[in-house]
Amino acid sequence: MNNMSQSINLNSVKELVKQHGQEHLLKYANELSYDELLKLTMQINEIDWSIFAKNEKAEASSFFIEPIHVPSDMKENEESHRTIGLNAIREGKLCLLLLAGGQGTRLGFDKPKGAFNMGITKDLFIFQLLMEHTMDVVRLAGNFIHMYIMVSDINYGDTITFFKEHNYFGYDPEYLHFFVQELNPATDFDGRILMSSKSSLALSPNGNGGWFSSMHRAGLLDGIFDSSLEWINVFAVDNVLQRIADPVFLGATIESGKMCGAKVVKKAAPNEKVGAICLQNGKPHIIEYYELSDDMMYTKNDNGDLAYGFGVILNYLFPINRLKETLNMKMPHHIVKKAIPYIDENGTLIDPTEPNGLKYETLALDLIHKMDDCLVFPVEREKEFAPVKNSSGVDSVDTARELLVKNGYEL
Ligand code: UTP
Repeated sequence: MNNMSQSINLNSVKELVKQHGQEHLLKYANELSYDELLKLTMQINEIDWSIFAKNEKAEASSFFIEPIHVPSDMKENEESHRTIGLNAIREGKLCLLLLAGGQGTRLGFDKPKGAFNMGITKDLFIFQLLMEHTMDVVRLAGNFIHMYIMVSDINYGDTITFFKEHNYFGYDPEYLHFFVQELNPATDFDGRILMSSKSSLALSPNGNGGWFSSMHRAGLLDGIFDSSLEWINVFAVDNVLQRIADPVFLGATIESGKMCGAKVVKKAAPNEKVGAICLQNGKPHIIEYYELSDDMMYTKNDNGDLAYGFGVILNYLFPINRLKETLNMKMPHHIVKKAIPYIDENGTLIDPTEPNGLKYETLALDLIHKMDDCLVFPVEREKEFAPVKNSSGVDSVDTARELLVKNGYEL
């Protein structure tokens, strides 16, 4: 599109930033070229200002947290669950959603996280592992499964190119649907929006909770409600042992009659930094590790197990029809302290190593709370949970490699 055909209404943008106390965003407006100013004003016009409003917090006393039932007999019906799940997949009732829009800042890898090579003597990329896990089920079911892949403006080009270069790792590209999530501006600790250059806000992906509304915006939901699809399996890019489209999980969730399903693992320690599944006012809920009081952290149930002893691994099954209702619901914003590159008052780019500001994100786990009930589906940690969050230490490339080897992979 010829940019000159788009006009800049600088006065209205000035009014907008004034209204929100963010006049500094136009500090360099006079120095910018037409295209730069156009880009900046477009970014400002696209800001969702509601993210800065305080989440309406209900009184803490109005929350009643209690343990949720975690079935211990899932293995007993494994074969019948597998049959139910496989039949549902063959009938086209399942689609998949890969959350790959994150920036993976902790890993410190400048490409999409899925392009990270877990191999040592050969290539074994994270995307490759995920597609191979999915192909296992495709082969069993005898048909491909539609997979939606959420990326951000920041990693879109690199992700598509990577998939193309690797021939989609053997997956039928007709069944892969990439879409872009929205970005949110980051602020300093006082709520002033940071800028990454004189002509750009410091933008970052708006969290993994907005995937359904991003799919909606991308036009991917058109027709989905009238199709055979009933379930969507949502999973993170960074668990290299992630079992995707697991027919047993799907069959068990269908059979349970519950509204959704969540895979969980037994916590490695009471204070492990994972979200624990529980009930809040009778609804499924994920309580963050920092929200668990010491008392709750160590509470045991009648069997002597930790009452809040199961953590989620970002692998959920959601019913598509119910998600439709969530489109009009507001998701709470989580404010996360991060190190955010920004330009200082002299226009010099600073790349901090310590958190200097706030990012505003919605989280997929909050969708669980919008469901009436949930099948909690425990899986073996060593077989299904190898997250790659950090370059070394806990949940790192090293620990994930170790687990891959334990599961028979050659690296
Ligand atoms: P994380 O919470 O680990 O975030 O994402 P991240 O951005 O990948 O990594 P850090 O915190 O910067 O190190 C969990 C999952 O959610 C996806 C990620 O790609 C990963 O699969 N995600 C996260 C998104 O799709 N979009 C986002 O905005 C954030």
